[in-house]
Amino acid sequence: MTQLRVPTSSKMNAVLLSEYGGSENLSWGETDLPLGPKDGHIMIQVIAAGVNRPDIIQRKGDYPPPTGESEILGLEVSGYVVKCGNNSSKFKIGDRVFALLPGGGYAQYATVDERLAMAIPQNMEFKTATAIPENWLTGFQLLHLEAKGFLDYLKGKQDTSALVHAGASGVGTALIQLTRDLGMKCYVTAGSAEKIDYCLALGATSGTNYKMHPKWDEELAHHEPKGVDIILDSVGASYFGQNMKSLKTDGYYVLYGTLGGSKLDGENLGWILRKRLNVFGSTLKSRSMGYKSSLVNKFEHEVVPKFESGQFKVSIYEEFSAVDVKKAHDMMESNKNMGKIVLAITE
Ligand SMILES: NC(=O)c1ccc[n+]([C@@H]2O[C@H](COP(=O)([O-])OP(=O)(O)OC[C@H]3O[C@@H](n4cnc5c(N)ncnc54)[C@H](OP(=O)(O)O)[C@@H]3O)[C@@H](O)[C@H]2O)c1
Repeated sequence: MTQLRVPTSSKMNAVLLSEYGGSENLSWGETDLPLGPKDGHIMIQVIAAGVNRPDIIQRKGDYPPPTGESEILGLEVSGYVVKCGNNSSKFKIGDRVFALLPGGGYAQYATVDERLAMAIPQNMEFKTATAIPENWLTGFQLLHLEAKGFLDYLKGKQDTSALVHAGASGVGTALIQLTRDLGMKCYVTAGSAEKIDYCLALGATSGTNYKMHPKWDEELAHHEPKGVDIILDSVGASYFGQNMKSLKTDGYYVLYGTLGGSKLDGENLGWILRKRLNVFGSTLKSRSMGYKSSLVNKFEHEVVPKFESGQFKVSIYEEFSAVDVKKAHDMMESNKNMGKIVLAITE
């Protein structure tokens, strides 16, 4: 078992980014230990860090960290609490925690507001815990906080359905399980038969391999002729027209990524008018501390017990040593992963 190591110098190792650009600019090397922890913050000895698509976008220079936060990549970690700042009372040194970070996760030590950290359930490994915060908090907030009115809309309705694009992505694997937990059918799109099978194993109702069947909306219409109640979309522009056709009247369209582009060309906004659609967009990283801390608090009480009971499954695709961070980013950019890629920081 990995030993707890309180930092003994002002230096640590971390993934360094020499300049914005390709994955060849990443390396494992020495940098300064983070300052603090400040009041209400804790310092975590990072055992594992999650790799997320937003890290790739940040590496390329298109998604900077919020002002004043660490420039080091990494939005989630698991590890041991090694220091507690003044007025921090939620944890004690030696506690096993997992946390959502504004940045700084690809490092031996990271500091975070204790309100964004959660206790790791007893029967859960560090690498499993680290795969949860970014994907699951994103999915949970989209359904439970961002798509305002959606939970009320669902009340008393029978036979409701969701469409999740990139179903085998980290966030997609969470959304499949979260929509099923709300009693909805969940349809997915993904880029291979293997990925569709993977989504079905996580509980998806049916799926379309969009590379074999680019007209996935026509396939979906066989199952749901009136359309689905909600679309959770990380693809954006390239699917816009098909998405509009695939929604029910009064349905919800939630955009949380633009993997397929962010510029619309010739699409008809009339769909939004005629179908009286509810349209939402969201990012998690830039949200205020108040928002994120109440999200984490709600998640701790309502969702974490479902991991402990085995109802929710965490999908880990591959674990890389931190020195192999380039390989981890290359794998994600090749769209190969089904579920999470994890970096082992302390072996
Ligand atoms: N708004 C937020 O708060 C927030 C937070 C976290 C993540 N995100 C976004 O959520 C998305 C998923 O993130 P993740 O970390 O879960 O990603 P991930 O595990 O890397 O999965 C992304 C998958 O999307 C699919 N994809 C890529 N380009 C596509 C395209 N042009 N058209 C259709 N599908 C495409 C690929 O699978 P296929 O083989 O199926 O094509 C790829 O494996 C990203 O857009 C990310 O930026 C948003």
